[in-house]
Amino acid sequence: MEFIASISDLKDALEALRRRSAKVGFVPTMGALHEGHLSLVRRSREEMEGTVVSAFVNPTQFGPAEDLDKYPRPVERDRELCEKAGVDILFAPPASEMYQAGYATYVLQERYSEPFEGALRTGHFHGVCTVCAKLFCLVRPAVAYFGQKDYQQSVVIRHMVKDLNMDLEVRVCPIVREEDGLAMSSRNAYLSAEERRQAPALHRALAAAEQAFAAGERSAAPLLAVIGKVIGEAPLAQMDYAAVVNPESLREVRRIETEAVALIAARFGKTRLIDNTKLTAK
Ligand SMILES: Nc1ncnc2c1ncn2[C@@H]1O[C@H](COP(=O)(O)OP(=O)(O)O)[C@@H](O)[C@H]1O
Ligand SMILES: [Mg+2]
Repeated sequence: MEFIASISDLKDALEALRRRSAKVGFVPTMGALHEGHLSLVRRSREEMEGTVVSAFVNPTQFGPAEDLDKYPRPVERDRELCEKAGVDILFAPPASEMYQAGYATYVLQERYSEPFEGALRTGHFHGVCTVCAKLFCLVRPAVAYFGQKDYQQSVVIRHMVKDLNMDLEVRVCPIVREEDGLAMSSRNAYLSAEERRQAPALHRALAAAEQAFAAGERSAAPLLAVIGKVIGEAPLAQMDYAAVVNPESLREVRRIETEAVALIAARFGKTRLIDNTKLTAK
């Protein structure tokens, strides 16, 4: 595996990779890799001939009061995990390489980036779109792999790719969970023992909504009430939002005709966690 920090080395390594692999898959991450990330790598390894992973804690997607400085950066461990997973290139540049002196160009998406995470984390998707656009230009993958855990992000990226005619496919892969249901996330490491104990409430709340949906409930309000009740049972959870949305438009729906996504975000102390589930009528 090539472990690379500079753009010029990345270009050289990609040229060599492309000579032996026609189809390159790309998994963009912020590092501190876990099974969620590795599931994306495995998917790429199954479907593509070469796999590139980026591990870049992108400063432009963090708000001024967010955790940029304390975000975990276990670079050696990430390198070993990628090596073992059969990654061809791990690109882990410093911020100064991605945003060089005089940097001035950003990708700003309207609509899908505005509600939910966008409303609570001003500028977040501005940074996400910018860094993904840059990484897509550099890597030029056939397919980019994202996790459903960040559902809104997957919608935002799909729209950016379509709107800007980027020549790649976006594939969204299932959420990988801990045994107790908590969606894996690098930020789970911030949770105190008691917060960690209560954090599966997010998944339990979504599971309860799924159950009500399976039992025939099609109105959003009672599904949200079920979610609110389960979250209320975790005293350390402070809900940021819960919503039932159209999977494509991210608009809130009052009734579910065929398909919707239940989105949830809650804080445990200073740690924000998100989760979601698809509700599909059989
Ligand atoms: N539990 C998970 N299951 C599936 N994919 C995930 C999971 N957690 C993160 N991902 C995906 O990995 C990619 C990089 O996310 P990143 O921000 O680095 O991780 P995290 O969300 O854990 O902090 C995103 O596409 C994200 O959706
Ligand atoms: Mg994340």
